[in-house]
Amino acid sequence: MKYMSIIETIRQRRSVRSYTGEALRSEHVALIVDYIAGLEAPFGANVRIQPVHAAIEDSNPIKLGTYGWIGGAKDYLALIYEEAPLAEEGAAYLFEQLVLYCTGLGLGTCWLGGSFSRKDFGQQVKLKPDEKLKIVSPVGYASDKKRFVETYIVGAEKNHRTRKPFGANFFYGDFSTPLTEAAAGIYALPLEMVRLAPSANNKQSWRVTLDGDSLHFYQTFSYGFSAIDIGIALCHFGETCRETGITGHFETLDAPREKDATYTISWIKD
Ligand SMILES: Cc1cc2nc3c(=O)[nH]c(=O)nc-3n(C[C@H](O)[C@H](O)[C@H](O)COP(=O)(O)O)c2cc1C
Repeated sequence: MKYMSIIETIRQRRSVRSYTGEALRSEHVALIVDYIAGLEAPFGANVRIQPVHAAIEDSNPIKLGTYGWIGGAKDYLALIYEEAPLAEEGAAYLFEQLVLYCTGLGLGTCWLGGSFSRKDFGQQVKLKPDEKLKIVSPVGYASDKKRFVETYIVGAEKNHRTRKPFGANFFYGDFSTPLTEAAAGIYALPLEMVRLAPSANNKQSWRVTLDGDSLHFYQTFSYGFSAIDIGIALCHFGETCRETGITGHFETLDAPREKDATYTISWIKD
């Protein structure tokens, strides 16, 4: 198996909504199960990821409520966590690690916050009363066929895939001065990886300020998936730092407050 760097993998990942209909081959199932077993969620989050098979036999599909949005997927991954401060961010961080691992294996995935039945999946994963299930993803072999939703609803897939420019989300000091890649220094590449992160409805509502050699992460407005979106962004940032040898850690600080934004966490250089 060819090793793909996290940076290549982030650049390559895209949401896949059409699959060939082939169930995951046993070698892929084994690799995914092993990878999940080795993951540890950051920020003390209590997380489990549960594989869900959409059909025991083709003639006997189970109800999952993804019909119309996702075509031909036989396998899903469900993200389950217990509510606590930063648990959603930690769960999203972990799930994105898995999504990127699957991308590296050549498999398609798609973060789904809507477009599926929580009740149906909840039954499949035997959701406990203290557990939350907000996200699932299909996992399988991408098909070239475009879904109706991709062409007409998610539409202009182009729009869904475009990202805001670097200086629109990243700032120097406070939100009044856009950060340039040159001024970002060693953080230019990890922040570029944040820029490419997937987010619900492609909202890209994360904001980051550079403060000396620390960074503060914010969300510009809250909605149902903003904590998840920022967790994905933190994964791209943290894993790129790890791969490129930038040492540091995440910590909740009494960081500068910014107008119209909620502070999440900071990155402190070690
Ligand atoms: C938290 C979250 C929830 C999402 N929910 C859905 C969904 O319900 N249906 C869907 O088709 N895409 C969903 N997406 C995929 C986004 O639309 C997609 O990531 C974004 O448009 C960027 O495109 P890309 O993933 O191809 O880079 C979701 C993404 C995230 C991060």
